[in-house]
Amino acid sequence: MTNRYKALIYAALIGLVTVVIFLGFLSGMDNKISWLLIALLILIPWLYSQRKNGRILKWKSEYSVGVKSLDLDHQKLITLLNQFNTAYDYDMGAEFEHQSLKELIEYTHYHFTREEELMSESGYPDLEAHKQQHQIMIEKIKEIEQKYEQIGHDAFEEVSKFLSDWLINHINGTDKQYTSHLNAKGIK
Ligand SMILES: [Fe+2]
Repeated sequence: MTNRYKALIYAALIGLVTVVIFLGFLSGMDNKISWLLIALLILIPWLYSQRKNGRILKWKSEYSVGVKSLDLDHQKLITLLNQFNTAYDYDMGAEFEHQSLKELIEYTHYHFTREEELMSESGYPDLEAHKQQHQIMIEKIKEIEQKYEQIGHDAFEEVSKFLSDWLINHINGTDKQYTSHLNAKGIK
């Protein structure tokens, strides 16, 4: 269910609870159910904001790979992934969804090339294994695009989760392994 529908459900729920509170107070201001429902009414916006922000990724300093340009790339990728997730969550239409996926994929390719060039120029010993990780991701992205062509919007839920998990795990795992090598070569 997209956030647009969730927002409608929350609004309807708030309206319903308000009516029940009002009816409850008609029998007296000491109606415990009405007071309990007021407490619930206060909690609903908080619960909604918790759920709404659940999928938004934030770059943290602990994600740093020790190379400024690559950190900036990773931050940009997270921003593009958030844009893609927002397009899905708010059901912003096929065109915006497709465009945000395209931008994310294009920047991923650009970033992989840049990262591989830095590793290659500095003689990074695990370059081939790292390139293989990128290649697996590129293949997966092709699958994602095909799936989107076939089933459209419904493909996004799985795609979003996969990309979010992959990106954070890759930055924190495989990418961080080159930090000491690149830094020792003066690349920071
Ligand atoms: Fe990488």
